[in-house]
Amino acid sequence: MKILVTGGTGFIGSHTVVELQKTGHEVVIVDNLSNSSETVLDDICTISGTRPIFYKADIRDKEALRSVFSEHKIEAVIHFAGLKAVGESVQIPLEYYHNNITGTLILCDVMREAGCKTMVFSSSATVYGMNNTVPFKEDMPTSATNPYGRTKLMLEQILSDLTVSDPEWSVVLLRYFNPIGAHPSGLIGENPSGIPNNLFPYIARVAVGMLPCLSVFGNDYDTPDGTGVRDYIHVVDLALGHLKALDFAAAHKGVETVNLGTSRGTSVLELVRAFEKESGVKVNYKIAPRRAGDIASCYADTEKAEKLLGWKAKYGIEDMCRDGWRYMNK
Ligand code: NAD
Ligand code: UD1
Repeated sequence: MKILVTGGTGFIGSHTVVELQKTGHEVVIVDNLSNSSETVLDDICTISGTRPIFYKADIRDKEALRSVFSEHKIEAVIHFAGLKAVGESVQIPLEYYHNNITGTLILCDVMREAGCKTMVFSSSATVYGMNNTVPFKEDMPTSATNPYGRTKLMLEQILSDLTVSDPEWSVVLLRYFNPIGAHPSGLIGENPSGIPNNLFPYIARVAVGMLPCLSVFGNDYDTPDGTGVRDYIHVVDLALGHLKALDFAAAHKGVETVNLGTSRGTSVLELVRAFEKESGVKVNYKIAPRRAGDIASCYADTEKAEKLLGWKAKYGIEDMCRDGWRYMNK
């Protein structure tokens, strides 16, 4: 199939493009490079042997999107493009609403004009909010505590409304848990600018000496070692989940919501220890106060992904640490 990947030079997008190309799909990327670099295209080409077609464009630019759809017979869209930093979304909510929501509305408008009504969308486990108990299942109530989370919740609703209004639409809403690691080649991975907010890139920067010490946000949670528990998933597993979701979307109509996680919880200190073991480097850390908005435990019920998509994560924490460390060293 010919697939448009918005945000395809980003962290999850680039890994998904590699897997799409390996499976024989033709890929067209639209990315405004607000959080990625064009050099990723060379790395994708080195890994997969094919350079994806690339348009540097903003998804809010309707004319730019129209010309992409008129130049290519796009059959489905995997929609990653969006802003994703929780803290920043509190500081600049309008930018988040405009980028994530206006951008998606414009994308859907252009898709409808072009008669392309199949989409796989990047949602987040953040929509499970603070009030559910683990493991999180797709039919649990949702809520959000910050503008970023609200953009995901609203977009889930908007895309669902679209499928109700027009039975030709097919949408899979993928709720990612915590994607980490990198491609085993070490060529593509996550490279946040500035000081990372998320745990894994922070650990990696402490390990290479770019940052002095990790602050562990709280050791008094109701978890086995008191530190926060999350469902870390190898980004390559996540990418493969998109291929399964794409197959499903192409063969069905309507909307489905699916968790992409491993169903296994790992604490902050367990991740630190696994990283130390795989890298052979000591990671300095200190216990710090809890971070506002954090929950004790978050991991997925993955039964729906297994049954509906025939997908199951296969990599473990060791693989994630080893591959993430290899990327960091390059
Ligand atoms: P990323 O920032 O690495 O990739 C997003 C890409 O979208 C970037 O390359 C950026 O330049 C591009 N982009 C942003 N706004 C755009 C716009 N208006 N027009 C065109 N391109 C635009 O992020 P990622 O980690 O790869 O995340 C991809 C998606 O998955 C995002 O929607 C994010 O909210 C969602 N998600 C990510 C995580 C995570 O932990 N990484 C977890 C849950 C959900
Ligand atoms: C965060 C976001 C979430 C988003 C996800 C992926 C918040 C509150 N939540 O999730 O909405 O979908 O990233 O982008 O920001 N930790 C430390 N020290 C650090 C960093 C993190 O101890 O320097 C701990 C956290 O308290 C948590 C765990 O590590 O227990 C994972 O944190 P993080 O990687 O930021 O992911 P989430 O909080 O799950």
